[in-house]
Amino acid sequence: MTITHSRTDGPDPEGFLGTAITSTRAAVGTAVDSTPGASAGAVAGAPPQRPVQVPTARYRSPAFAAVEADRLWPRVWQIACSVDHVAEPGDFFEYRAGPLSVLIVRGDDGVLRAFQNACRHRGNVICTGAGSGLTELRCGFHNWTYDLTGRLRQVPSRQGFGALRNDDLPLVPAAVGAFGRLVFVNLDTDAEPLESWLDGVPADVAWAGLDEFRCQARVSVPIEANWKVISEGFSETYHVQGLHSQMLGCLDDVNSAQQVLGRHSVSRQPYGVPSPRLGRNVAPQTVWDSFIVTQGGRMGISEPCAVPAIPDGRSVRDVIAEHIRAHQWASRGADLTRFSTEEVTSLQQYNLFPNATMLVSADLVSVLVSVPGLATDRAELVAMNFARSPTADAPRSRPFDATVPLDQADFGAVLNQDLALLKHAQVGVRQPGLTHFTLSGEEIRIITMHRTLERFLGGDPAELPGGAMTG
Ligand code: FES
Ligand SMILES: [Fe+2]
Repeated sequence: MTITHSRTDGPDPEGFLGTAITSTRAAVGTAVDSTPGASAGAVAGAPPQRPVQVPTARYRSPAFAAVEADRLWPRVWQIACSVDHVAEPGDFFEYRAGPLSVLIVRGDDGVLRAFQNACRHRGNVICTGAGSGLTELRCGFHNWTYDLTGRLRQVPSRQGFGALRNDDLPLVPAAVGAFGRLVFVNLDTDAEPLESWLDGVPADVAWAGLDEFRCQARVSVPIEANWKVISEGFSETYHVQGLHSQMLGCLDDVNSAQQVLGRHSVSRQPYGVPSPRLGRNVAPQTVWDSFIVTQGGRMGISEPCAVPAIPDGRSVRDVIAEHIRAHQWASRGADLTRFSTEEVTSLQQYNLFPNATMLVSADLVSVLVSVPGLATDRAELVAMNFARSPTADAPRSRPFDATVPLDQADFGAVLNQDLALLKHAQVGVRQPGLTHFTLSGEEIRIITMHRTLERFLGGDPAELPGGAMTG
């Protein structure tokens, strides 16, 4: 089965995934600016004196993965699905991450709940997959039955258990919350509330009106790599010049900025302007061509064509923004007139600890989650695409869900470049002579993730040497 997210006919995480190479002025290992909503370019700090080194054992050691399984995944908020998967009473979604399975259910009362997916009798899973129309939660093994709040209400041949009280054996709850159209779960019901967990991210992205988006698809691609290898491929834009050079015509990768927002981070990337790496005199046609190749679908344009006339005092970036507004209005009834050229053509790429990146522009949102597998070198890349609806109360349509083998996944040219690379990324990581990765200040978001990971795992910051500041 091939799933195609063409870059010219739909939401295209591709156009965003290469994104900008970010500021080299980011301070390695340091929160460079935790001010929510701080403007682009507000990056403090100085280049590191030397690279930061990350032990490759973190990516290949079963012992390290076991510590993550014990101390990270049962205690951290993680993105499970979209609100559109569980919008109506009786909707459910099973989220799996490594050994963990969490069942998310919308109750008759409209309340979203989550449970550890284990029957209180002998632990059979209650539900798998996703669907609608549940009126109860019935275990298929011996028919113990729970209501949608998780309360046990029926036990066949009850007398055989002696004194068994329903109230003593509800499904084990998990914490659940929503941010924008994303549903998060946390197995730790005493965990910090989701809102504070997200640090400055909600305030920083408030301009985009995330409630107006609706999920179109959630596609999962199994990959033979550690979850961090995958997520870190979407946590820096240093690789644009190497892997996605076709983006340089429409992306100012030099004047992008990165910020750390507590445990999370963001990169702000201007599109519709050329990279300074291409020199001073880049023709508008070059910018136009590069934008069409990488994300022309946002304008409804799939084939190379002459750049439209650019009015006096305007730029090719303004023309691109106008075409995006016109196409989104014509195709979806989404009114983008309240967004400036910069807002329409810039991308905010949030890296949400530990394993997600959320790519936000005025017309679409893409979320990529690297979900750990059952082995150290197994994971799934889960891609969720969202398009803006005319209003915040627009109805959902049930998202398209699929699991696609890596060699059949087709997410468009740019993301396919990422997928092709990830296919073999773990091979190098396994080589015994490669003891450390060597990271630049441009990879501050990866370093931030590792520093936060250490706090969860009780790790020693000295494991990541290097990165001292010069000023
Ligand atoms: S394991 Fe669920 S009813 Fe027996
Ligand atoms: Fe990429």
